This record gives sequence, C-alpha cells and structure tokens, in this order.
Amino acid sequence: MRTQTERGLALGRAREETDALFRLVRSDSLYERPIAERHRIVFYIGHLEAFDWNLVGRYALDKRSFHPEFDRLFAFGIDPPPGELPSDRPADWPGLQEVERYTQRIRDEIDDVLDEVPEQLWHVAMEHRLMHAETLAYMLHNLPYEKKVAPPVPLSASAPGPVPVTRMIGIPAGAARLGRDPGEGFGWDNEFQAHTVEVPAFAISRYKVTNGEYLQFVRQGAAPPYFWVERDGDWFYRGMFAEIPLPLDWPVYATSEEAAAFARWRGMRLPSEPEFHRAAGAPPASGNFDFRHWDPVPVTSGERAGREALPEQMFGNGWEWTSSAFAPFPGFEPFPFYTNYSAPFFDGRHHVLKGASPRTAACFLRTSFRNWFRPSYPYLYAGFRLAAS
Ligand code: AVJ
Repeated sequence: MRTQTERGLALGRAREETDALFRLVRSDSLYERPIAERHRIVFYIGHLEAFDWNLVGRYALDKRSFHPEFDRLFAFGIDPPPGELPSDRPADWPGLQEVERYTQRIRDEIDDVLDEVPEQLWHVAMEHRLMHAETLAYMLHNLPYEKKVAPPVPLSASAPGPVPVTRMIGIPAGAARLGRDPGEGFGWDNEFQAHTVEVPAFAISRYKVTNGEYLQFVRQGAAPPYFWVERDGDWFYRGMFAEIPLPLDWPVYATSEEAAAFARWRGMRLPSEPEFHRAAGAPPASGNFDFRHWDPVPVTSGERAGREALPEQMFGNGWEWTSSAFAPFPGFEPFPFYTNYSAPFFDGRHHVLKGASPRTAACFLRTSFRNWFRPSYPYLYAGFRLAAS
C-alpha cells in the first residue's frame, strides 16, 4: 500500500470534491449541456484528469501518451462570444466506460509520481481542479432538479429576515497593493507583479446589495436576475436543489451589466479593482466559502460588534463584480506551460471579480487572486456592492 503523502491527501480531497459533483447527476443525464455556452457534463469528467495528465504527466514528467486523441479532446473548455453557441451532439462524445478507463489510468499514473511534480505545477493542477469544483457547481445549478440527486444535507436556508439596512462606508485616499511577488508563494500568471495604485477617497456599501434592494429595482421595471423566478406574483430564488421564496436578506446574484444598471439607478457605480483592495483588508478565516453551503446566507451573517465602520463579507457569500476590465498587470508574462490561462481574456470583454462564493475553495482567498467573466454571463455566484466618489 502506498503511504499517503501530504500531496496525496490534498489531491484525494480535491478529487472527492469534484467526484461528488458528478454523483449529483443522474446517470442518464451526464451528456446534458446545462449551460449553453459550455461543454456537456461528460467533457468535464475527462477534462479534470486530462488537464493533470497533459500538464504534470506529459509536460513536466515527459510520460508517454497512452490516448493522444482523448488528451486533445478533453484539453480545453470553451467561452464563445455571445450568439456563437456550440452545436455538438451527445453522440459526438465517447461512451462513459471509455472515458472512465482513461481517467482511472491517469489517476493511477499521477499518483505514482506526485512527489516529483514541481511545486508551481502542483499548485496549477490543484487550483485548476478546485476552480472547476466551483464552475461545475454553476453548471449543475442549471441542470433541472429532476435530473440531479440532492445530497442528504439540510438546505441551508435560514429563516427569512427583513432587508438589512446598509450604509456607505468612507475609505480614505491611499495606496492599494495589487498583485504579488514571486517570493510570496503561488499565484497564477495574471497575479504578477506586485505594484501599488493610488486610490482617491471613495465610499462603499457596508453589505453586498441584497435581493430585497434589487426587488425595488425590478418593481420599477428592471428585468429580474437570472436566479429569480416569478410564480403567481411571488418571487422565488432558484437554489441548487429547490426553489425557495426569495430571501430578501441574501446577496443578489446578478450580471455585471445588471449590477452597473442598479448602481446607476441609485446614483452610484461599481467599485474598481483597486477600490476593492482598499476596502477589503485581509481574507477572513471563516465565512461562506470553501464548500460549506450550496447557496448564500444573509449579508449580515458573521457580523461582529465593533466593526460597524468596516465592509462585511468582502470574501465569501458571492463574488463581487468590479468595474475593471480584466487586464495584465505591469510585467505580466504568461506561464510558458499554460500560455492561454489569462492572455486570451485580456480583450476588454471580461471583467474582474474579487472575493469568493460559497463554492470557492479556501486557497483562492488570497488578496491577489483575480476571477473574470463576461459582464453578461448570468450563471455565476456573483453580486456586487455600490461605490461612490
Ligand atoms: C478563472 C474561473 C474564469 O472557468 O473560465 C478553468 C478558470 N480556466 N479552466 C474559467 C479555468 C481553465 C476560468 N476562470
């Protein structure tokens, strides 16, 4: 028997996280495409392992390919521009048994060489898998309830509360430190280099904008967010495993476009990426992140006395849209072994998100981590706060 090393344990836990997601899908639904802009579910079964194999097995350790066709088929996800949806059919994908033979062989081969993997590539592989643990949750959120099996955990919905009274918190002018130095530990290509940005004084809302606040906007004629559904004049939140009456004290999940429109309606705007840094402080040790819940908790939860002058939940309970387009930091260089991780998305059509969602692994709670999506992408666990100059 192989003794479990530190890496073996960590990889085992990450694999369990993603395996558990595929187990939520009824076995006759694994070739569904719950999000029109993404691949069918079966692609991700192959992809998580093919990524490790292509990077760690093939690139780093020069192992011999045993299935070059699958290595390519499962290599990359997709992010088509609006209106250019994929049109492949279920029958275009290999059968499950064949995919599972491929993934099992990869796991066996990777397990044998874990301790030879260079540190940086180890983090790339682990964080890649954990990012997919989150994006797969978005995907399965959109699989109809009858096609998934709810885990035997109680739904996290707390008793509905009233709309919390938020307020604007003044942040003085000062320097924001963005990015990280190589000596500070692992980061993705887009997190380098560390630099400071001078940020003028501004104000930011203490809480994330809630469903209750957004409901007023909808009552004024704005379109409802993607996660809401109206039934007989009442609003419901489409949760991971069930619809529930719209919790007015939860953060609203919205697109960047909806967020910006709401902010304008209130005479304000979204915070920029440097402003988020000024407001955020250090990531907390606990909160609604690291797979504790499937759905949000109230924007006031975790609040402690004596912190009334600080923004709450800057990490966890939903990513936050910033007004900043995803762009390289000064001195950016793509990883030579993964040139397309960030660079293709520096196109002005992707915006930076900061913070974390309920399904974000704890390793991403570092101040330099940057998430990004198209401003019209509605499937994220992402909301926003208001800012004003
Ligand atoms: C960093 C979350 C935007 O899902 O598109 C996964 C992460 N890249 N596999 C994405 C990613 C390649 C990426 N995000």
